[in-house]
Amino acid sequence: MKNKFAKTQLSEKVKNTKFAKQILKGETNMIKKVAIITNGGDCPGLNAVIRAIVKTAETHGVECYGYIEGYKGLLENNYIKLESNGSASGLLHRGGTVIGASNSTNLFNYPVEENGEKVYKDMSYKAVENVKEAGFDCIFTLGGDGTQKSARDFTLRGLNIIGVPKTIDNDVAHSEITFGYNTAVSVATEALDRLHSTAESHHRIMTLEVMGRYAGWIALESAIAGGADAAIIPEIPYDIDKIVEKINKRKEEGKKFSIIVVSEGAKPKDGDITVKKTLDDGKGLDNIRLGGIGEKLARDLEELTGMVARNTTLGYVQRGGTPTAFDRVLSTKYGTKAMELALEGKFNTLVTLKNGKLDSVPLEDVVGNNKEIGARSGGTESTSIKRVTMDDDLVKVARNLDICLGD
Ligand code: F6P
Repeated sequence: MKNKFAKTQLSEKVKNTKFAKQILKGETNMIKKVAIITNGGDCPGLNAVIRAIVKTAETHGVECYGYIEGYKGLLENNYIKLESNGSASGLLHRGGTVIGASNSTNLFNYPVEENGEKVYKDMSYKAVENVKEAGFDCIFTLGGDGTQKSARDFTLRGLNIIGVPKTIDNDVAHSEITFGYNTAVSVATEALDRLHSTAESHHRIMTLEVMGRYAGWIALESAIAGGADAAIIPEIPYDIDKIVEKINKRKEEGKKFSIIVVSEGAKPKDGDITVKKTLDDGKGLDNIRLGGIGEKLARDLEELTGMVARNTTLGYVQRGGTPTAFDRVLSTKYGTKAMELALEGKFNTLVTLKNGKLDSVPLEDVVGNNKEIGARSGGTESTSIKRVTMDDDLVKVARNLDICLGD
């Protein structure tokens, strides 16, 4: 059916675009108002995605808003107008997110106080009501697996959603690469370069603990980029003797130092992950905070090799600050594609890259078997996080280079 409002709404600038023609022919939705949410941990490239969505929206005569502090903003009905010559100006190179993020906000299982006690309630209906009242035709959810799990759950409550895969960990299912990952790998690689010279000067073992709760992408790729001797990842529970063997072999070859990169989620083959803190209620999206495996590995290696070992935990520098050129371009591609999908009415999808080309998949596929509304995400057996597989090129490259993977 022809869209009778469309002609008057289209500005001169967009009258001849592909979407304008589709709208005039009634082949697509005429969306007017959209909003962005940045949820979960922050990540380099979030602002670049926001900028790209806003600019593409403006090109097509669509108003763009940003919810403040992720899903919390939906509940609190807290949003601001985003304009390329206003609040969304100067964003391309900026780290963090100008609209704020909230971690572990699951509105389907949200802590509220009742009679002085903390109880968990499904607050999603209130959030949906807020979105409908505000008149948003589509919500863009910029986030990792937890965020996209909630996004899919909101689609079942009737919202139009398009997800954009964010996380430095690069572990969102069905997405070839998440924005922020390249920056994190670059930071880890620079750290490895710096550790090399001090390790060599002091004849030490250096362990570098990087992020990656369930997937070892950052550790593996930075180990290759930074010339590390071992990469210990969650997907391969490690045998300490194999790492010792590698260090001793290097010693025999006259190399008196060794560099080991380890993911925070790595564990020994006969042990468990190293937990820094268990969050008291245990009911958040991710109820454990990891950390400490780098220290543990350094201690164990010192004992077993007789060499001096030191650990560096890279922490939040991996996800703070300015995105690399690669991430700026990737974020911009993702942002423009997300808005294109909205203009085409292809809701309830996640923007992806497939064989290097922009594409999309249903959010339903992204949550895998974790179908239950409001269920926890992250590290449950049913979540479909993208882990390193043993036939991945990076694994083959590492093995060919004799980088020890702890097995
Ligand atoms: O962004 C993902 C991640 O970097 C994980 O690797 C890490 O465990 C987590 O965020 C920590 O984030 P926060 O302390 O903000 O919960």
